[in-house]
Amino acid sequence: MKDFAGRTAFVTGGAHGVGSGLVRALLAEGCNVAIADIRAGSIQQALKELNSERAMGVQVDVSSREAMARAADEVEAKFGPVSLLFNNAGINLFQTIEESSYDDWDWVMGVNLHGPINGVMTFVPRMVAAGKGGYVVNTASMAALLAAGKPGIYNTTKFALRGMSESLRASLAPHGIGVSVLCPGLVKSYIYASDEIRPDRLKAGAKPVDTVNVKRLAEIHEFGMEPDVIAQRVLEAMRENRFHIFTHPEFRDELRELFDEILQDFRDYPPDAGFEQRTGFEKIRRDGYKQQRKGLRST
Ligand SMILES: NC(=O)c1ccc[n+]([C@@H]2O[C@H](COP(=O)([O-])OP(=O)(O)OC[C@H]3O[C@@H](n4cnc5c(N)ncnc54)[C@H](O)[C@@H]3O)[C@@H](O)[C@H]2O)c1
Repeated sequence: MKDFAGRTAFVTGGAHGVGSGLVRALLAEGCNVAIADIRAGSIQQALKELNSERAMGVQVDVSSREAMARAADEVEAKFGPVSLLFNNAGINLFQTIEESSYDDWDWVMGVNLHGPINGVMTFVPRMVAAGKGGYVVNTASMAALLAAGKPGIYNTTKFALRGMSESLRASLAPHGIGVSVLCPGLVKSYIYASDEIRPDRLKAGAKPVDTVNVKRLAEIHEFGMEPDVIAQRVLEAMRENRFHIFTHPEFRDELRELFDEILQDFRDYPPDAGFEQRTGFEKIRRDGYKQQRKGLRST
């Protein structure tokens, strides 16, 4: 993506944190920008601070297909076709899977995974039909690669979003639409306050909010990377059409360790009956994937 100016961008979760940095950076590049967020008051506050005719707000719950379609129509009626999509809205629930309820699953999966799915299903067909290329950035996390017991559902959504992004990158390349997955570490953001926006219909299965932990998380997020720094790194990656956006270089060694540990789980089993035919087939697939990745890097 080289030509940002004049394009319309749709940034979910644009009123706080990472999204607010993206909004500022895109406006500075000359884009029209829609701040798509569930917090109406925060949208108003952001618009006031930005004071730009090229910014608009749209209140939307990304987990709703209908609401996303309505938001898309509203934004396109004002700013024209969206060709830059940032599926960024996200929430966190710092607990293990076995202590979670179905309501917990529905909430976190709804926002963190179905949100980006709804973004893609709403906008990508429109982007393809418009034929002007474009870009999709999905905000995952380092938690799309590194998992521990907590937060289990969050890890599940972010791993899935990474897979979706990688597949989409391959299928959208012929349409001139780039796809990247953003994997930040700690961000100076408001995500610790996610419980505030949990929908009433999914509260029955919620554990009581652990206010001590929320306070601790708020303190930790103060050390997070500034959203404006993250946004600059995102734009740089889009210009290079780079798939992984690793904003936090301090994670490089940990990933190397993890990849080594994964490889250590292989065993040298003797060939089974179908081994020869299977590896022949896998070689064709592997060469195909390699060619595809090479092509995607050079586009
Ligand atoms: N904070 C971190 O340390 C961190 C680290 C890695 C990845 N991330 C990811 O970054 C993304 C942005 O989060 P953040 O840290 O900036 O948090 P944040 O809470 O500061 O901002 C998220 C925004 O999303 C909005 N939002 C939440 N649910 C929504 C919904 N259903 N529909 C529409 N908008 C909704 C919120 O109102 C908020 O404005 C998330 O996907 C998060 O998982 C955050």
